[in-house]
Parts: sequence; C-alpha cells; structure tokens
Amino acid sequence: MITRYSYSPMIETGAVVREITVSAGAPEPFTLTEDGGFLLRMDEKCRVYGLGEAIRGINKRGWVYTSWCSDDPFHTEDKRSLYGAHNFLIFDGEVRFGAFFDLPGKITFDLGYTDSDTAVIKPESLHLDLYIITGDTLKAIVSEFRSLIGKSYIPPAWAFGYGQSRWGYVTEKDIRDCADRYRDAGIPLSMLYLDIDYMDSFKDFTVHPERFPDLKAFAQEMKARGIRLIPIIDAAVKREAGYSVYDEGHEKGYFCKDADGEDYVVGVWPGMSVLPDFLNPEASKWFGQQYKALTDLGIEGFWNDMNEPALFYSERGLNDAFKEIKDLEEAPLDALNFFGVRDTLVRLQNSEDDYKRFWHDTPQGKFSHYDVHNLYGYHMTKSAYEALCDLLGEPPLLFSRASYIGAHRYGGIWTGDNSSWWGHILQSLQQMAGLNMCGFLFSGSDIGGFGGDCTRDLLIRWMSFALFTPLMRNHAAFGTRSQEAFAFGDTEVFRHIIELRYRLIPYLHSAFEKAAKEDGMYFRPLAFDYEDDEIAATVEDQLMVGDSLMIAPIYVQNAVARHVYLPEPMTQIRMHEGEISTEELKEGWHYIPVPLGDVVYFTTSPIPLAEPVVNTAESDGNN
Ligand code: GLC
Repeated sequence: MITRYSYSPMIETGAVVREITVSAGAPEPFTLTEDGGFLLRMDEKCRVYGLGEAIRGINKRGWVYTSWCSDDPFHTEDKRSLYGAHNFLIFDGEVRFGAFFDLPGKITFDLGYTDSDTAVIKPESLHLDLYIITGDTLKAIVSEFRSLIGKSYIPPAWAFGYGQSRWGYVTEKDIRDCADRYRDAGIPLSMLYLDIDYMDSFKDFTVHPERFPDLKAFAQEMKARGIRLIPIIDAAVKREAGYSVYDEGHEKGYFCKDADGEDYVVGVWPGMSVLPDFLNPEASKWFGQQYKALTDLGIEGFWNDMNEPALFYSERGLNDAFKEIKDLEEAPLDALNFFGVRDTLVRLQNSEDDYKRFWHDTPQGKFSHYDVHNLYGYHMTKSAYEALCDLLGEPPLLFSRASYIGAHRYGGIWTGDNSSWWGHILQSLQQMAGLNMCGFLFSGSDIGGFGGDCTRDLLIRWMSFALFTPLMRNHAAFGTRSQEAFAFGDTEVFRHIIELRYRLIPYLHSAFEKAAKEDGMYFRPLAFDYEDDEIAATVEDQLMVGDSLMIAPIYVQNAVARHVYLPEPMTQIRMHEGEISTEELKEGWHYIPVPLGDVVYFTTSPIPLAEPVVNTAESDGNN
C-alpha cells in the first residue's frame, strides 16, 4: 500500500508514474520536527536498506548521506554524496516500511549518525512529496515502490556482453589494436567504448577528423566482428561560434541562463562551455536529436557523462578567483595566504554558488538550478533515450553517471570514478543492492577500478564478481596502468572468466528481464529472500542474483578462501581453468577455498550454461 503526503512540492520531478491521492495528517510512522525534518526512532534491530548508489554497507544504518548529484572521483568512506540522488529507503525494524522522498533538491538522511537510535531525514526546504510504502515482505515493499516509479530500462541483448573501455584510447588504431589483442587471446568482447578523445576538441556529436577519419566504416568493420562502438557524450557544449550545436542551441535559447538572460558559461573538458537546459522539453528534444550525427554512422549505444552537471569552474567564478588571488599577491606571503590561493581555485569546482547562478526554463516556471539540481542528469538520460528509440527504432544501450529516480526508465548507470582498490569490489557489490531497490537494474562499476593502478590479482577478483553485473565494463583513467584482460601477460585466466560470463548470459539475461518486467530485483541482499533467517539478514558481502543463484566474491588482497553463508542447502559451482564442477553443500557457514582464477558461485536449482562463444553475436539468441 502507498500513502502520499504532500508538502507543496515546487516542481513535478517525473519520478512517479502513478497517481496517488494525497492523505491528510501526520506522515506516520515519522514525526515532523519543528525545522521540517522527518524523525523516526529506530529499535535496536532496525536495519535500513536503499539509497541506491550510496556507499557504506547494504544496511545503511550508522552514517549520514546527502542526496546531491556530485562529481567526486574519490569514493572514500567519509563521503556523503555520489553521482546519483536516490531517495528511497526501507526501515526494517519493529515497524517495517519504505519511504520515498520525491524532491529535486538537497536532502540529508541521518540514519543513526547523530543519535544511534534515531533517523532524521531533512530536506533543505519542505517542498516535497513523501510516499510511505508498506507490504508484507521486503520484496513486496520494493515492488510496490517500483510500481509507483515505472518499469526499468531494458537494454538490447548484446549489451550483456563484455566491454572494454579506457580514457586514453585516442585513435582508430588504438581501438582496433585493442580489438585485435582480445581476438588474438580468444577472449570474447562485445563493446569498445570511445572516451572523449574521439571528439573534435571535445565537442559533442563531432568526430575527430584525423583520429577517426571514417567512423562509419570503422563502426561497420567492428560490428562485423561482433563489437559495437559506444561513444561518450558529455553534458556541456563547447561555446564556439561556428560549431553548429552551439550556434543552434544559443540562437534558440536552449542553454541555461544567468539572471540577466545570458548563457551561463562554465568550464568542462572543452573549455568554456554552456549547459543544455534539459528541463526545458523543447531544448531536451533538440539535444536528443543531435545523437543522429552518430546513429547515422552506425552507433547504437552511448554513455552520458558529466551530467551532475560537473563544472570545473565557471567564467564568472574564475574571474572572481583571479581577482582574489591578485589581492593576495599584495599581502605578505604566509601559510594562510598560500592555502587561501589554493582553496580559491579548488572551490571553483562544482561550486554551489554557480549552481545558484543559472536557471532552467520549465513548463512549470523558471527555477534556479540549485533548487532542481538532482534532476539534471535524469533529464539528459530521458532526452537521449527518447530520441534514440526514435532514431534507432529500438532501445539503445544507454547509461549515465548522474541520475535521479525516474531515470531508471530510460537507461542504466555506472558507478563513476571508483579506484583500483580492493575495498571497491565490496563497495560495488553493496551499491548493486541499493540500486536494484531503486529500479536501476542495468548497472555496474568500472572493473579494475577507474583511478589508480590495477594489478593482475585485483582484476581477476573484480571480474569474478562483475561477471554477474548486467553492465560488465572494464574502464580506467588516463595515465593509469593498462588493465585490459590482455595487459598482464597471461590471458587464459581472464578468458575463462569472461567466457563464463557469456555462458551464463541466458540465465543472467532472463533474470534481468524478469526483474525489469515484474518490478523485482535482479540483485538482492540475502535478507530479502530469507526473511526469517537472522544470519542472512546480517550478511553484507553476498548477493542473490535472479531466482536461483548466489554470489560471494573475494574482495581481499591475497585471500585464497572465504566464509560463505548458505541460508539453505545449495550446489556449489566451481569454474577452474574453464572446467565446471559441482558440489552439494548443507546450509550454514562454510569456509570455501577460492584460489585465484577460480570462480565459485552457488545455486538453489540447476542453471543452464550456454556453450562458450567468442562474442555475443554468436551466443544463443543474444544478437
Ligand atoms: C569522467 C568519467 C570517466 C571518463 C572521464 C573522461 O571522469 O567519469 O569515466 O573516463 O570523465 O571522459
């Protein structure tokens, strides 16, 4: 059951697709605090699930989280915000219910951080709709919530293959070499991603004339080999007279404006740029149509980036900063002045002052970006999805970095700029649980880690987990050590793992479709399937995948075994050097050896495995 409480919302966010009548009275079981917070006393056993991409545990209790789409490349434990704003959570205590706080601005979830038995959820201003969702089981609460927000995006079947990416492939030759090395190693590959260097001066919807002299022919050549090229599109558009996307958008007034009605100028990859006003339906439609420049070349999938939106600086902020620094130049140099200079520049990035200084022109009126910040990436995804369905005649592969609930209907997300750290395997697993509750089924993290240097063993362990994530993509930052499946010399071990992914696609794909169509979860914490099992409820490093599979990956350096909890008797499946063996195990705790290169998972009923293939184009029914 869903009960809606309405507190003069300032704008329709578009998250909800069902009309629910507003209830009067108190938003029970919360009580409203004097300063507009929602307070709940949590009993000792109360667990808190949800919050989508947020880090720190499947059970979110004990920390404070802020929904504020943030471009932050350091996903350390002290962080409160990441790229997504996913304001749905479930309290599983003596009272059990879900709550969705639907508002476009900032909101903080203090889940036992200030006071360990109290949750206080505090929107920055009390303009929102609150939905309280009840159900007999945790799964029922999730599916009731999902019926409220609409069906999850389903990508084309080929998107379930393995993809390689790297910020640092610059030319057609770099991409072809990568494809050749995969082929030579006999490792299946279905997608190669093009990062910003394929563009001409980082201008959206352009192709660098020398680096990719004939992208159409190249895309065709790759597709014939079963590999799709997936280019990146950034939110900001370079301000450059003569660049048609800029000229047209500027002339039609489709970019976000300052208080005086001038295009607000920000610095992102292309230098001085402007921001498409995705909250203006006309502008959004217009931006979507620009993808045609690339679909005409045979492109069928995209990743949308920098759409929090990420700002390195703004023209106005930079000018102010230079003035401030100039003034400091006159002052005697001491440590304070020095740090002052440094911080003046650091503060420019993703500055809330900038977010307050530009405006959106929506059908519901003009809004300061700051007030509707969390909707920006969502509307970019919607713009792309709707246009691409039209252009391609079918859904594209599409995923985004920033998101809000509702965006799950139009695309997937990846978890952004993680690092080559062991802890980030576990973090990614825990994020998958929260994301699935919020409808973002097509998700995954950068395998091997984006920032920092990856090692062979880290990549093996990461892949052994990520072979179960719907989006399976290896991606790394510019300047980091190579981390392709061929980068560490011996390729056999990686071939076996990636082959296993392809062999499992029939199961994974149908589990995914079932979750999407039935408002279910592809990944579930054990607590969701075994509600009466007190141990299952505390397991933070295992997940159920589909109806009959459970994973328990290794995420510790040099570990060769781990404890695994089986809530019921299960079959252990072990892949060792490409060979599959099985063993029946009783319920309870087991200490399972998992030597490097072995993949171990558990099933509650038999799961079909396809024959090994070289790419998805060849796999059963998945082209
Ligand atoms: C951002 C993205 C990353 C990409 C880089 C360059 O940091 O999150 O995936 O490689 O920009 O485009």
